[in-house]
Amino acid sequence: MSSLSKQAWPFRLGILLSGRGSNFGAIQEAIESGQLPDTVISVVISNHSNALGLQKAQENNLSTAVFEKANYESRAALDEAIADCLKAHQVDLVVLAGYDRIISAPIMAAFEQRILNIHPSLLPAYGGKGMVGLKVHQAVLANGEKESGCSVHLVTPQVDEGPVLGQSRVPVMPHDTPESLAARVLAEEHRLYPRVIRQYLQNHLNREENQEAHDPVLQ
Ligand code: GRF
Repeated sequence: MSSLSKQAWPFRLGILLSGRGSNFGAIQEAIESGQLPDTVISVVISNHSNALGLQKAQENNLSTAVFEKANYESRAALDEAIADCLKAHQVDLVVLAGYDRIISAPIMAAFEQRILNIHPSLLPAYGGKGMVGLKVHQAVLANGEKESGCSVHLVTPQVDEGPVLGQSRVPVMPHDTPESLAARVLAEEHRLYPRVIRQYLQNHLNREENQEAHDPVLQ
């Protein structure tokens, strides 16, 4: 895997998605508009060949790959193949954008601390296994919450429990349905994800520069 270094410029994202891919679209727009500079999407991977996000990536002439569970004898074998694909595309940062499978050891090991996910709640609230899609917003409404939002976090083996890198808040309105709340949160996701990716990459660059400044000069 290439490292996040100035020599490996630009930073290469590997997107994993399973569905409509609106977060992927927002990240791509941020790259194209210059809000997310020095960054490219090197591959878009899906576990569903008919995912809308995959079609969008193909229309935009990005490299794509499909890894369907039915073609692999185990979750580890599937994730091994995905990790190999990410490595072959020299991905620096793996971005989960509506990916509906839990990431297992082969990807975790190859991209430790380099996998981000976005979740449609203010983690640690309303996260964990099974807390997906409209279920999240139904639970928020059932509990009479006054606000909700979205979180970008580092992916660790415990689902939705990795360190939160950024959050956006939205109000819950009196007549909200799960759908109307989901739409308000999603609009925030599209702003938050590119911002956090940019911050993540900047932090890595800063760390690298600090390291260079402190490295002894070899004579
Ligand atoms: C988003 O709500 C995200 O928070 C969750 O899955 C959904 C993906 O939406 N992880 P999209 O495919 O990016 O439109």
